[in-house]
Amino acid sequence: MDDIAALMRREKILNRARNTISAIYMVGIPVMFLAVCIFAGDPNDLAEFSINLAALEGLNGTAVGRTTVSPAFNLTVRVENPCLQPWCFNGGEVLVSYAGVALAWGPVPALCVRRSAAAELTVLPWGRDVGLSEDLRQRLLSEWPMGTAQVLVEMKIFHPINWMHSSKLSYIGTSLYNFKFMLGDGIARGKE
Ligand SMILES: *[C@@H]1O[C@H](CO)[C@@H](O)[C@H](O)[C@H]1NC(C)=O
Ligand SMILES: *[C@@H]1O[C@H](CO)[C@@H](O)[C@H](O)[C@H]1NC(C)=O
Repeated sequence: MDDIAALMRREKILNRARNTISAIYMVGIPVMFLAVCIFAGDPNDLAEFSINLAALEGLNGTAVGRTTVSPAFNLTVRVENPCLQPWCFNGGEVLVSYAGVALAWGPVPALCVRRSAAAELTVLPWGRDVGLSEDLRQRLLSEWPMGTAQVLVEMKIFHPINWMHSSKLSYIGTSLYNFKFMLGDGIARGKE
């Protein structure tokens, strides 16, 4: 009899301990996450950028021997903000290049992303009368159908001044995001 009572008591204590542990998990994880963004914190680093090529025109002239092109890219930029506070940037600049030759460039609009949310914007870099060497034109034409014509997208984002973190340079400066994609596949992701 005593043994059973002791067993039940032990069981009760064990259960209470389990409940406490799960309560710590449930409260602790969001609090830790919040702490990461606010204290260790640089939402400028934690925000995730990805881009997608929605449309491209102006490079088809290379197929009929033209070495002067006026390319225009339509890029969809997706920004994910994992932090429990809104995050904004003051716009930026984008440069699209192939084999080290700048093809198109232009502004990135300003954006605010709600807490724990994602937002998208359209970026439309373009170039006028960009000269390609005959070698580069031929390289582009041979790589494109094979899906190996790699384009580099360099995007610079301007951060607003954030006094709370003004000792951190990244808060009053810029962030650079690089993306690569192959012409033809239209997909580009990640930060490098
Ligand atoms: C390139 O494509 C555009 C639209 O898709 C078209 O208007 C133009 O004639 C094409 N140019 C050449 C040289 O094929
Ligand atoms: C860019 O692509 C998006 C998505 O396909 C489209 O909605 C938008 O109209 C395009 N913008 C321009 C200027 O072509």
